[in-house]
Amino acid sequence: MHYKEQIDINRLPKHVAIIMDGNGRWAKQRGMERSMGHQAGAETVHIVAEAASLIGIKYLTLYTFSTENWNRPTDEVTALMSLLMDSIEEQTFMKNDICFKIIGEREKLPVEVRERLERCEYNTSINKGMYLTLAVSYSSRWEMTEAVRQIGEKIKQGEMLPEEITDETISQHLATSYMSDPDLLIRTGGEFRLSNYLLWQSAYSELYFCNTYWPDFKEEEFYKAICDYQQRERRYGKTSEQL
Ligand code: IPE
Ligand code: IPE
Ligand code: MG
Repeated sequence: MHYKEQIDINRLPKHVAIIMDGNGRWAKQRGMERSMGHQAGAETVHIVAEAASLIGIKYLTLYTFSTENWNRPTDEVTALMSLLMDSIEEQTFMKNDICFKIIGEREKLPVEVRERLERCEYNTSINKGMYLTLAVSYSSRWEMTEAVRQIGEKIKQGEMLPEEITDETISQHLATSYMSDPDLLIRTGGEFRLSNYLLWQSAYSELYFCNTYWPDFKEEEFYKAICDYQQRERRYGKTSEQL
C-alpha cells in the first residue's frame, strides 16, 4: 500500500517545516557540479509543495538558503540566487491556491531576486489554500535578534512594559508570526542538526531525519514522513494517561 493512502486526513500536521539538505552530495555522487544538484532540488520543491497542498497541509516552510550559506564559494551563491529567481512558478501557485512568502534578511538579497520574490508574494497574497514559505538568507538567531530589537524599541517608546513580555509576544515578533509552530520538522540528507532553523518555533516539533538526498525526496517520501509523524504521541510534558 502507498503511504498516501495510510495518512489519516483528520490528524494532519498543520505545519511542516523542511531542511532541504543533500543537493551537493547528490550531484557529486553522479559526477556533476553542485549547481546541478540545486537544480534537481528545485524540482523537488515543486513536487513536495504540490503533494503537501493536495492533502491539506496549511503551512509548508522550506529552508532554502541560510545566513551561513553566504559563506559558500561565490559561484555557488550566484548560481543559487539565479536558480531561486528562475524556479518561482507563480502560475502553479495560483492553480494550487498557494500563498507564497519569504522569511529572512531580504536586504541581503540581490535586488532583482528580492523584487522577483516580493512580486510573487504580492501576486499570490489572495490565495488561502496553503502558505508556502521559503526561508532565504534566514537564520533563527538573526530572527530572534531582530525580535529582541523590535521589542526593545517598543519598550523605549513606552508602548510596552518589560513585565508584559510573554512567550506569545516573542512569537509575534518573529518572521513566522503568521503561522503556527511546526508540528513536523523534516531534515533530508542524513545530518542530525538544526543548522539555525526555527529554533524557537520547533520547541515541541516532532523531528524526522532521513538519509535521502533532497533531489530524491519525492511525494512518497514526504507521505512516509507524515505517516511516521502520525505514529507519534505528543505529550507536551504530560503523561500518556493524561492525554
Ligand atoms: C542543501 O544542499 C541546499 C543548500 C544548503 C542551499 P547542500 O548544498 O547543503 O548539499 P550538501 O549538504 O553539500 O550535500
Ligand atoms: C542548511 O543546510 C541550510 C539549508 C538547507 C538551506 P547546510 O547544508 O548549509 O547545513 P550545515 O551548515 O551543513 O549544517
Ligand atoms: Mg548541506
